[in-house]
Amino acid sequence: MIVVRPAAAADLDAIERIERASFGDPWSLKSFAESLARDFVRTNVLLEDGVVIGYSVVWVSGEECELANLAVEPARRGQGLGAHLLDAALRQAHDEGLLVMFLEVRDSNVGARHLYARRGFHEVGRRPRYYQHPEEDALILRRDLG
Ligand SMILES: CC(C)(COP(=O)(O)OP(=O)(O)OC[C@H]1O[C@@H](n2cnc3c(N)ncnc32)[C@H](O)[C@@H]1OP(=O)(O)O)[C@@H](O)C(=O)NCCC(=O)NCCS
Repeated sequence: MIVVRPAAAADLDAIERIERASFGDPWSLKSFAESLARDFVRTNVLLEDGVVIGYSVVWVSGEECELANLAVEPARRGQGLGAHLLDAALRQAHDEGLLVMFLEVRDSNVGARHLYARRGFHEVGRRPRYYQHPEEDALILRRDLG
């Protein structure tokens, strides 16, 4: 059974493992732990039969928010789970009354870009050489939540 729920401290080790398997410049466990303590951060986990296999992190600021992180266990990608997590984050933001969601994505990340385009995000800017390991531009994407 697939469930999306708010993350808890007991999920941090699984989140960190997926994060390290997903990014060349991973967030530390400490930064995820600090996120859990902040009232402007919404961290969700996706579980299959009780096992964490994905997560999302959204930062809220006024009536806007930013999808700061999204990842699915490498072996479980391409099965609709990233879309499921993104849909949950979009629904949560909409239900909170937020008006717009932004995100940054690597130029070369075709899988994520495809997912975001399918969910109605469009490009509104570019940050040159924003990412390290490897160095690369970030695209800034936006989606209205109304
Ligand atoms: C990006 C990520 C979360 C997507 O999760 P996922 O579970 O593999 O995605 P889904 O199976 O829900 O796919 C959603 C859509 O994206 C498409 N897609 C996913 N990966 C793709 C790829 N590598 N190439 C092309 N399309 C891809 C799917 O075909 C699907 O499109 P459809 O609705 O037209 O069929 C996952 O690949 C991941 O964890 N990547 C590493 C971390 C990362 O890059 N996060 C995003 C940072 S901005």
